[in-house]
Amino acid sequence: MQTITDIKKMKSFIKEARKKGKTIGFVPTMGYLHSGHLSLVSAAKKSSDVVVVSIFVNPLQFGPKEDLKKYPRDLERDKKLLAPLGIDVIFSPTAEEMFPPDFSCYAEETKLSKGLCGKKRPGHFKGVITVVLKLFQIIKPDIAFFGAKDWQQQSIIRKKVKDFHLDVEINTLPTVREEDEVAMSSRNSYLSKKERKASRILYQTLCFIKEMAENDEKDIKKILKNAKKLLKSEPLFKLEYLEMVDPETLDPKDTADKPLVALIAGFIGKTRLIDNILIR
Ligand code: PAJ
Repeated sequence: MQTITDIKKMKSFIKEARKKGKTIGFVPTMGYLHSGHLSLVSAAKKSSDVVVVSIFVNPLQFGPKEDLKKYPRDLERDKKLLAPLGIDVIFSPTAEEMFPPDFSCYAEETKLSKGLCGKKRPGHFKGVITVVLKLFQIIKPDIAFFGAKDWQQQSIIRKKVKDFHLDVEINTLPTVREEDEVAMSSRNSYLSKKERKASRILYQTLCFIKEMAENDEKDIKKILKNAKKLLKSEPLFKLEYLEMVDPETLDPKDTADKPLVALIAGFIGKTRLIDNILIR
């Protein structure tokens, strides 16, 4: 396993691998890895000859009042976690390497990114798809792996691949959870013990919604009203949004008569958490 920080070196490594006819699997991350990330890496390892994991805390996707500075970073820890998985390259460029002072081109999605997290974090998805487009250009993967944990993100990336005719297959893998079913997230490291316990309310609410919807309650307004009552039982949680939408178009729905995804976002103290669940 080698660590490459230089874009030119990364490109020539890929060129060599391509010459040998190798297939390339790619897992983009912001590091501070947990078992959710590692599940994507294991899937990449199974499907591809060469596996590249990028570790890059992308400044473009953080708003001015967000946690870019305090986002957890520990490359040595990440290397130790990746070493047993037999990957080929960690690509960890600096911010200056990725975004030199004269950088001026961005990619933007204009529909799926408007609602949900996009509404609360303007510019976030523009930052995500710009960096992912750059990473795809550098690594030229056959398959790239994303987590269902960030449902809106993977939907937007799929749309970008379609709209820009990118030659990469997107594979979305299920959310990996802690023992108490809280979704694994690098940001969980910000939570105090009390806050960590309170964070269970996100998935509990999603399971409540799923159960209601799958037990013949079709009125989404009614389901969401009941779910919001449940959320009130956790005073540490401040809701940002709770919605039930079409899994592909992300359009809000009134009736639970087709497959849906329920998504939740909110704050526990200063930590913003998200989660989602697929319904039928
Ligand atoms: P990051 O939050 O580090 O996540 C990297 C990948 O891991 C994403 O595809 C995310 O959905 C997935 N992931 C996170 N938690 C997961 C969990 N509990 N189970 C399964 N998969 C999980 O998402 C980003 O970084 C960035 O936006 C990025 C795509 C790298 C662009 O900067």
